[in-house]
Amino acid sequence: MSKIDENIGRVLFSEEQIRNRVLEIGKRISEDYKDKEPLMIGILKGSAVFMSDLLRAIDIPCRIAFLTARSYGLNTTSSGKVNMDEDIERALGTKVEGEHIIIVEDILDTALTLSTVCEKIRELKPASLKVCTLMDKQVQRSIDFKADYKCFDVENEFVVGYGVDYAENYRNLPYIGVLKPEIYSK
Ligand code: PRP
Repeated sequence: MSKIDENIGRVLFSEEQIRNRVLEIGKRISEDYKDKEPLMIGILKGSAVFMSDLLRAIDIPCRIAFLTARSYGLNTTSSGKVNMDEDIERALGTKVEGEHIIIVEDILDTALTLSTVCEKIRELKPASLKVCTLMDKQVQRSIDFKADYKCFDVENEFVVGYGVDYAENYRNLPYIGVLKPEIYSK
């Protein structure tokens, strides 16, 4: 067992479960967008691992870009404020107007991050806007918000791995696990 594995209480989704689900969602996106060429926008940093697998599960022409948005910092609860790139099109390196946008996230929790990002993207007049999240923690929602695509629903547990961090660590776990409470309550 590695140094990071030993801080995991239990595995929530194995590498195989993630692989299969990401393939299913990639197939759905490929069908839904078969006559379009979507621009997928990953929200950094959490979406990096999911984006790289989802992208390869899509078999239609598509493009990618990334935006940085943070609300948690090194804490386990949201700061209530989303820090994001001011000039979105400059950060993306491409225009948004007239594009079919799919926002790619690792986790939808209170929905503060995604509702803020979507509001800013909408101001730039995309042709359409959808959201794809790896995990959906519906019990924590403080804003009414629904993802268009999601891989997994999760309970109110502290999940890490497959891009999701605790204080910037654990993103490199290949599976999704629940962190032992003694790690974050120290
Ligand atoms: C996490 C996650 C989402 C957001 C979800 O980001 O990646 O962006 O929190 O929470 P919310 O629905 O309550 O807003 P974080 O601020 O931890 O930054 P990171 O992506 O760099 O890990």
